[in-house]
Amino acid sequence: MGWNDQVIAEFRSNNGRVGGMFEGAPLVLMTTAGRRTGRPHTNPAVYRRDGDRYLVFASNAGGDQHPDWYLNILASPQVTVELGTDEGTARSFAARAVPLEGAERDRLWEAQCADNPAFREYERKTSRTIPVVALELLDLASDPGAGAAVVRQLMGHHQDLRDQLARLIAALDRGEAAGAAAPEGLAEQLRKHCLTYCYGLHLHHTREEGAFTQFERQYPALVPAIARLREEHRVVADALTAFGAELTAAADGEKDVTRMREGIERLVAGLEEHFAYEERELLAAVG
Ligand SMILES: [Fe+2]
Ligand SMILES: [Fe+2]
Repeated sequence: MGWNDQVIAEFRSNNGRVGGMFEGAPLVLMTTAGRRTGRPHTNPAVYRRDGDRYLVFASNAGGDQHPDWYLNILASPQVTVELGTDEGTARSFAARAVPLEGAERDRLWEAQCADNPAFREYERKTSRTIPVVALELLDLASDPGAGAAVVRQLMGHHQDLRDQLARLIAALDRGEAAGAAAPEGLAEQLRKHCLTYCYGLHLHHTREEGAFTQFERQYPALVPAIARLREEHRVVADALTAFGAELTAAADGEKDVTRMREGIERLVAGLEEHFAYEERELLAAVG
């Protein structure tokens, strides 16, 4: 387990508290979408409260490059944040990342350096202006239209994921039609498509589970349905892992297009059921 993974594991099992160099520091985990791969990336960061917002600093410990998470949020500002809570367990929340500019950025950066001299030290080490980013948590209580907007967005993602799977199946059918002359690289190609698909689905579920926390609080009647949806996410993730392993075996020689096709069809059936249940329950809640 690398250093990053250790911090993440400790954070999650210890309600957001982490020892070592982060001892006593207010810490947040941010999951961003990899700007090239779409793969979810999780990073710990020290935060500063500013009203309802959580400020994070793209210091990269004084390095001359912006950290990857900062470049990721410039490409896609939707992030999932994890925080320790009064409930005693760290929870994830849907949030939007907004880079601050001008006087506002300078004022809050100075405040952070005054409270925590390590940041002043980072500033000294680089000629970069270290970006300050506000994480704004989705607020369903004060914006009556927000719940419906989030559900519409999730439904749009479902459609994208359906389209991607349909393309995977079409690729498989082309291979099947070619019969004995099926291109050698079919399984390998599928494996790559599948990987992209897996990242996309994993990201979708990560974001969704963040928003679920806010939905549970705003619409308590949804709690049982959301528990089931979270459990289904784990089932889908396991099925995808198993299917990925099958594809890897196929790429290594054992090419059984029929079996791959059955694998995809099982996935599609499970996912369609999940999407339908999710859309029905969430839509009913937001009216
Ligand atoms: Fe879901
Ligand atoms: Fe979903």
